[in-house]
Amino acid sequence: MAKDNWRVGVAGLGTVGGGLLTFLSEHPGFAPAGGTVSVTGVSARSRSRPRPFDISNLAWFDDPVALASSPNVDLFVELIGGSDGPAKAAVEAALKLGKPVVTANKALLAEHGAELAALAETAGVPLLFEAAVMGGTPAVKMLREALVGEEVVAVSGILNGTCNYILTEMEAGGRPFADVLAEAQRLGYAEADPTMDVGGFDAAHKITILAALAFGAAPNYAAAEVEGIDQIELVDIKLARELGYRIRLVASARRGEGGVAVRVHPALAPLGHPLAETSGALNALFLEGRRIGRIFIQGPGAGAGPTAAAVAADIADVMTGAARPVFQAPAAALKPLAGLDAAHQATKAYLRVMVRDQPGAIAAVSETLAEVGVSIDSFLQKPVQDVGGVPIVLTTHATREAVLLDAVERIAALPQVLGRPKMLRVAPV
Ligand SMILES: NC(=O)c1ccc[n+]([C@@H]2O[C@H](COP(=O)([O-])OP(=O)(O)OC[C@H]3O[C@@H](n4cnc5c(N)ncnc54)[C@H](OP(=O)(O)O)[C@@H]3O)[C@@H](O)[C@H]2O)c1
Repeated sequence: MAKDNWRVGVAGLGTVGGGLLTFLSEHPGFAPAGGTVSVTGVSARSRSRPRPFDISNLAWFDDPVALASSPNVDLFVELIGGSDGPAKAAVEAALKLGKPVVTANKALLAEHGAELAALAETAGVPLLFEAAVMGGTPAVKMLREALVGEEVVAVSGILNGTCNYILTEMEAGGRPFADVLAEAQRLGYAEADPTMDVGGFDAAHKITILAALAFGAAPNYAAAEVEGIDQIELVDIKLARELGYRIRLVASARRGEGGVAVRVHPALAPLGHPLAETSGALNALFLEGRRIGRIFIQGPGAGAGPTAAAVAADIADVMTGAARPVFQAPAAALKPLAGLDAAHQATKAYLRVMVRDQPGAIAAVSETLAEVGVSIDSFLQKPVQDVGGVPIVLTTHATREAVLLDAVERIAALPQVLGRPKMLRVAPV
């Protein structure tokens, strides 16, 4: 795709789009593949919104589809967001016209990746999305390019900086979830509607994309099992710490017999483990291959500068003309990833059972666990103030999840027990 001058249309001038325009204006010679890059047109919702960069010399488009279709745009950059609506329409329009597309939109790729890959490959143009996962930390390239000769067995890590920030602050300040979330919203680290982040859905979009790249399959967002951090209580953070763990929101895609388990859920990582030591808004990822073993990467998962750097790298790739299938295998050969039922997978678990402060409670809980075949790895009984009742806290050996859930129900029904036990998985290490 050698060209002397690439005319770029940028739709979306928010955090990432603004970061890209700032970078390009500060680096007018950005020409990693020879040739030049010039932004010729932009689109956003509000033309009059004050922006910290100058767009007065650029053609303005109210409609991003018109920008994507403009004869003055060779390369379309979509930085609006959202799985459907204008972002999808504009990306489709560009690809149908045979224009390369760069996007940071994980929701779009996770939910419509296969059809967009087919459009791109039919047109013979790249569709690149490095910024969509881990922002400025190159996870997509790692799987799409560097590990293409390896049989990946698992990818797992921390893919949502907002959740990691909240969990880190809850532990550091001894503050409950709602307080830290409100502060994160005030500081602009969390959206006004935090559901995508704290509900685990943003991480699910990202792990869906990584799973497709790792296993050469069509993204299958519907197959991801998702649990967020909104039910994480301070008492569990404190007790997990006593047992030598830290709670993290872990996203994983792991090959098993007959499919791949794609999941997002809070998990306990042992202190000293790289996931436990990933603090604040950082992201982290383990990539596990049959021959290579484990690779660990950690870095910024969001923010104008890092994310714009990833978008710029994709623009450079378009300019060099590197042509690879969008998801590792040609779009025509992509099959949706076969999901695996979590109930059949084995995991170590943390259980917190609130009991009445009376004799026999511990015996009743441990007898119930023994009845269903759950063996205890470690045990802690500690008075904790202001939580009502006495917590019995234990970790189990690896057990099928269906068995663990059965144990939880049986324990909840014991007369000595107050409420439903809290179960969290221990991250595989
Ligand atoms: N923020 C990050 O650190 C980060 C990291 C990785 C990936 N991403 C992804 O990057 C994308 C952009 O995120 P962001 O954080 O930059 O979002 P943002 O700050 O909310 O910016 C969104 C931009 O899209 C524009 N827009 C909204 N609706 C539009 C429409 N109908 N037509 C044209 N433009 C429209 C907005 O216009 P106005 O400015 O006029 O409101 C705004 O400029 C998303 O897919 C996000 O998931 C973000």
